[in-house]
Amino acid sequence: MQVLIERLAQQVFQRMEVLFIRELWRQGRQRPCHPVSEPATPGSAAREEPESLLGEFEKENGLSLTIEVRTIRLTASQDRLPALLELLDDAERARAQTFRFPHLAAEFIQSHAAMRILIAEQIGLHPRAIQLSKGKYGKPRVTGQTGFEFSISHSCGLASFAFSTQGPVGIEIEKVRVLKDCDALVQQFFSHSERDELGRLRACKQQRAFYAVWTRKEAYLKALGTGLVMPPRTVSVTVDPDAVPSVAGDNESAQASRHWRLVDLHVDAGYAAALAYSGERCPVSMTETVDMAALLGDS
Ligand SMILES: CC(C)(COP(=O)(O)OP(=O)(O)OC[C@H]1O[C@@H](n2cnc3c(N)ncnc32)[C@H](O)[C@@H]1OP(=O)(O)O)[C@@H](O)C(=O)NCCC(=O)NCCS
Repeated sequence: MQVLIERLAQQVFQRMEVLFIRELWRQGRQRPCHPVSEPATPGSAAREEPESLLGEFEKENGLSLTIEVRTIRLTASQDRLPALLELLDDAERARAQTFRFPHLAAEFIQSHAAMRILIAEQIGLHPRAIQLSKGKYGKPRVTGQTGFEFSISHSCGLASFAFSTQGPVGIEIEKVRVLKDCDALVQQFFSHSERDELGRLRACKQQRAFYAVWTRKEAYLKALGTGLVMPPRTVSVTVDPDAVPSVAGDNESAQASRHWRLVDLHVDAGYAAALAYSGERCPVSMTETVDMAALLGDS
């Protein structure tokens, strides 16, 4: 009897702790802002995936499910890097050694430290205690957190993260630049229908359309977990940067596209970004983009 009571008390305590962390997160830290294209109807999400304690807890307590997006400018000073490196695991530290250019190593260290800090906020663990593993094609996940999904993307000093308790999620950001090899990339990565649609757009719209397709498609492939192992030409997304984005179909199954949602995001000036997730449309909450120093609590 004593053991039973202790176990029940432990469960209640764990659940209260998780709720407390979530409420602190929602009330204190988040300042919602709007994605570039607003998801249609906030509301209940059809979930086929197993749920984590967090997902169940939110449901039981009537809290709405959301997908959360955070973006961090990787601007920490050089002298902060040793402490950030301390947050990473052995595999990440070994990877950090492999970069030829110090600025790329610095971005990697910062992005993974930020990823751990943000995951820690989500699931209530210490950043160092988070155990990461990879799917068949390299999609990262947190060991032992069934139902908690995340995705990371970094580009030229910026890192974005998407967190979800309602199923697979993928995020992709790209610094917008003038590309010399744009035509070759279109030939290599765009499907027939995307190439046709891009060609029909006015010239002034084509660069935005290029980045819209690029980020929408990669976000989708990252949510699927295949990344570019699935030939990008076999997947089609909507091309017009001003239209509501969607997966237009893929060769594997045209049906599959109905289960996926795309959202264009504004993460920072000069960047294109998109988010992909499965299930019904749900609210996407974005917190204002901040410097690494702010995430670390430096004044
Ligand atoms: C994921 C991928 C699309 C990279 O995109 P990118 O625009 O160059 O880089 P991004 O910064 O946007 O994304 C990189 C992040 O995607 C994540 N990622 C890697 N593979 C992934 C996959 N299959 N699905 C989802 N996410 C993946 C990683 O966490 C990576 O961050 P990290 O390198 O800091 O750990 C590309 O590397 C890819 O297709 N990888 C999978 C294929 C592959 O080479 N697999 C090797 C093992 S079989």
